Amino acid sequence: MKTISVAVAGMGNVGRETVRLLRERRAELRERLGAHLVLTAVADRDALREARALGLPASVARFTDPAAMARKSGADLFVEVLGGYDAPRRFAGEVLGRGGALVTANKRLLAYAWPELTSAAAKSGARLAFEGAVAGGVPVLRALELSFSGDRVLGVDGILNGTTNYILTRCEEGLSAEAALKEAQELGFAEKDPTLDVSGGDAAQKLCVLAGLVTGGWLKPGSFPVAGIESVSSRDVAYARERLGAAVRLVASLRFSGTAAAPRVEAGVSPTLVPLSHPLATVRREYNALLVSTASAGDLMFYGKGAGAGPTASAVLADVFVTARDILGGLTAPRPGPRKLSLVSPDDTESGFYLRLLVKDRPGALARIAGTLGRESVSIAAIHQDRAAGTTSAQVLITTHPATRGRFERARRRILSLGDASPRHCAMRILA
Ligand SMILES: NC(=O)c1ccc[n+]([C@@H]2O[C@H](COP(=O)([O-])OP(=O)(O)OC[C@H]3O[C@@H](n4cnc5c(N)ncnc54)[C@H](OP(=O)(O)O)[C@@H]3O)[C@@H](O)[C@H]2O)c1
Repeated sequence: MKTISVAVAGMGNVGRETVRLLRERRAELRERLGAHLVLTAVADRDALREARALGLPASVARFTDPAAMARKSGADLFVEVLGGYDAPRRFAGEVLGRGGALVTANKRLLAYAWPELTSAAAKSGARLAFEGAVAGGVPVLRALELSFSGDRVLGVDGILNGTTNYILTRCEEGLSAEAALKEAQELGFAEKDPTLDVSGGDAAQKLCVLAGLVTGGWLKPGSFPVAGIESVSSRDVAYARERLGAAVRLVASLRFSGTAAAPRVEAGVSPTLVPLSHPLATVRREYNALLVSTASAGDLMFYGKGAGAGPTASAVLADVFVTARDILGGLTAPRPGPRKLSLVSPDDTESGFYLRLLVKDRPGALARIAGTLGRESVSIAAIHQDRAAGTTSAQVLITTHPATRGRFERARRRILSLGDASPRHCAMRILA
């Protein structure tokens, strides 16, 4: 029986669980693969201690430098779960440059080094798999890559960040955003520094990975609009539910057009009003979901735990299994080489919008705000004013009919420059 040797770089939360599962499920994997999957090397700054803690046999080589493991271990398949950017990039370069097989769960590496990784893989015939990089244990990438091979993916709308979804859904239950974040941190699934999550940056990196997988092209981080949930308050969440029949979710979206050879994409991450009847509105707490729209199969939703050692290690191990099967079967790497991806101008994308403003009690203020929207041809669907007794300002909630983002954004900036409203406001798009 053949053997596929596996080397794991990074023995943290995901690496330890991957190694544990790989060893625990050894017999089943062997039976299904028709070959032995054997761990032959691990790399970590504290490789000795980690190997001892996991009870690894002496036959498993220990490295403190991942790049040295890539050069010297001679493994058939490498797993990168180091986290960060520079060391994984060197490690990936080493493996892919030699035509090796790499499994990674590192969305940041994939989002920022996509052209370099895919070019190296295309040149050398290397294999690259990254199911764990998006939505943890939910098998969205394999579905996008294989299950719609005879179909056309038109777009995706995803809740790809568990921390922000936890905060938004706890706000629906009456908690403040600050208290919800603290709770998520205490439960261990929000980072101590939640900036990347709350700002939408984490979801944006995952969106780059999804766009790359579907089109082969590089959706460059920073090239499309990304807004986080910083300006969303429990007041917005309550208004949305009670008055507009909608839930607030941080939604990452892609719409594909063009051709396979010259793909085009519309991309964005933003807090979004999702009608309560929409499947994404049912996604609560730390769960992730991806709604995929296809030409023939219609809409499909993938749902599950988007992070954590168990779900991510499950995805990593699935990649290890499938990659090992391809190596054994002598299959060439399936992904097309890098492509040029053109971006639809974000200003041309269209949706309805929600705008909450704290408006000072000045004659004609509401008329000036409505007039500013009108001058940009943004038509108001509804307007609502809430004034607490004894105050000199009112919360004004405006929803609009579909308008281009460019026009809405211009109107929003002009409204803020009028001086009638406080700079602290909340703007969200409305999902149709
Ligand atoms: N945790 C999740 O839920 C999750 C979900 C999806 C994807 N991921 C991805 O999976 C990857 C791993 O995440 P994790 O949570 O397992 O991280 P982690 O707990 O921080 O583990 C990373 C391990 O790699 C070691 N390491 C990092 N750089 C190294 C270097 N240059 N040389 C030697 N050792 C090095 C770290 O050692 P030190 O601690 O000494 O730095 C640590 O032991 C990340 O890319 C992450 O984005 C994680």
